[in-house]
Amino acid sequence: MAYTILDGHKTLLNFPRGAEGTWTLDSYRTRGGYSALEAVLREGRYTPAGLLDQVKKSGLRGRGGAGFPTGLKWSFLAKQRPAYLVCNADESEPGTFKDRVILEENPHQLVEGMILSLFALEAEHGYVYVRGEYVHPQKRLDAAIREAYEAGYLGEDVLGAGRAYHITLHSGAGAYICGEETGLINSLEGRKGQPRLKPPFPAVIGVFNKPTIVNNVETLASVCSIAEFGGEAYAQWRNESGKSTGTKLFSVSGHVERPGVYEVPMGYPFKRLLEEECGGMLNGMPLKALIVGGSSVPVVDAETAMKIDLDYESCAAHGTLLGSGGVIVMGEGTCMVRSLEVLLRFYHHESCGQCTPCREGTGWIHRIVRRVEAGQGTMVDLDELYRIADNMEGKTICTLADAAAWPAKSHLRVFRQEFERHVHEGRCPFGGRFPDPFHLGPQA
Ligand SMILES: Cc1cc2nc3c(=O)[nH]c(=O)nc-3n(C[C@H](O)[C@H](O)[C@H](O)COP(=O)(O)O)c2cc1C
Ligand code: SF4
Repeated sequence: MAYTILDGHKTLLNFPRGAEGTWTLDSYRTRGGYSALEAVLREGRYTPAGLLDQVKKSGLRGRGGAGFPTGLKWSFLAKQRPAYLVCNADESEPGTFKDRVILEENPHQLVEGMILSLFALEAEHGYVYVRGEYVHPQKRLDAAIREAYEAGYLGEDVLGAGRAYHITLHSGAGAYICGEETGLINSLEGRKGQPRLKPPFPAVIGVFNKPTIVNNVETLASVCSIAEFGGEAYAQWRNESGKSTGTKLFSVSGHVERPGVYEVPMGYPFKRLLEEECGGMLNGMPLKALIVGGSSVPVVDAETAMKIDLDYESCAAHGTLLGSGGVIVMGEGTCMVRSLEVLLRFYHHESCGQCTPCREGTGWIHRIVRRVEAGQGTMVDLDELYRIADNMEGKTICTLADAAAWPAKSHLRVFRQEFERHVHEGRCPFGGRFPDPFHLGPQA
């Protein structure tokens, strides 16, 4: 299920819930699609610098996880040409499936957003790097790109404006690390998908050694609204501080009555999202824990969760991060040791192995948590878990190590008593049988 609470606006999911055919060019046009591009290219609504200025005014921040201001990032693009735009559609963070909805249900909005972004960046060629498992979304996007070429929105002379714009779709092969922008660039170039040391940043030396802007699907699709109505109109949706603007997609999974992707304005209370949009907790069970921004961000308890507004500042004030908007809701009865074990298994598996603290650290902390969940852990294990995770942070080429350390430290900090019960009782107090037959990784 996917829908916006902002009916009547040209936002990201501007079509009725469950509507058919929203991915076609005809449907997109009936919703005002490509009108911003026509106004920019045919009527000269903006110069490239003028559109970049609107993106800065909009306050749009990258929706891929880090929340870096998009206009500011664009202004770092080196002057050398050719330059490239890369759309990051790798979307592999556990709990995050919002880009998928844009690719499947509204792919033309991404295509239009990319062409407008190419215009603002004075670049001609964009790549979309889509995770390999997204076979159906790739088909939809591929069809939309073809339609856009046929309709003259892409090609050598777009809308007769004498400008060439091209988009190439590139399929990944199912590695989480290829979502990290420099790992993605290496993979796009045909190399091993391992992150590069920064600096130089992609805006200076990116794909094929040329200046490159990497942006998330949702970020680029949001540019359509900005080009259509202006940066200030986009920023009408804002939180109290005004530092988080626009609308944001949240993919909600876990113990809720109606999981799905919801578009809400920045600053929307989590409590309302849970109780009104998602229909409350599954079978009315009490909330126990929340991961608000995808698996990498610190977990919070129920009391804290209910105070969180869905924006960058409120999440930070409550000890977590907005991240990619992957909302994972956990009800009473969830074993938090098991929850951490599942996450760490993923990070250990996905570490690319270049940095020792990540390659070894993710394995060590995973094995400790496995032991604790199996009822074979000691109190020393708990201290070691925290110490190793702490030592992984901020010492590696990319932030995958941090992405494993933050959930580890926060699970232990917030739910320490539960970890201790596993040690003292010598078993999982929630009746978990571990290791289970389906997940036999390397033994502790
Ligand atoms: C391990 C790792 C995985 C990432 N995966 C993704 C991803 O799947 N999609 C994404 O947009 N950004 C991902 N990022 C963030 C990108 O490196 C980059 O910051 C982002 O694509 C920039 O786009 P934005 O400014 O529009 O957010 C990941 C980062 C790391 C460290
Ligand atoms: S932190 Fe991990 S995933 Fe990132 S470059 Fe180092 S080893 Fe690879």
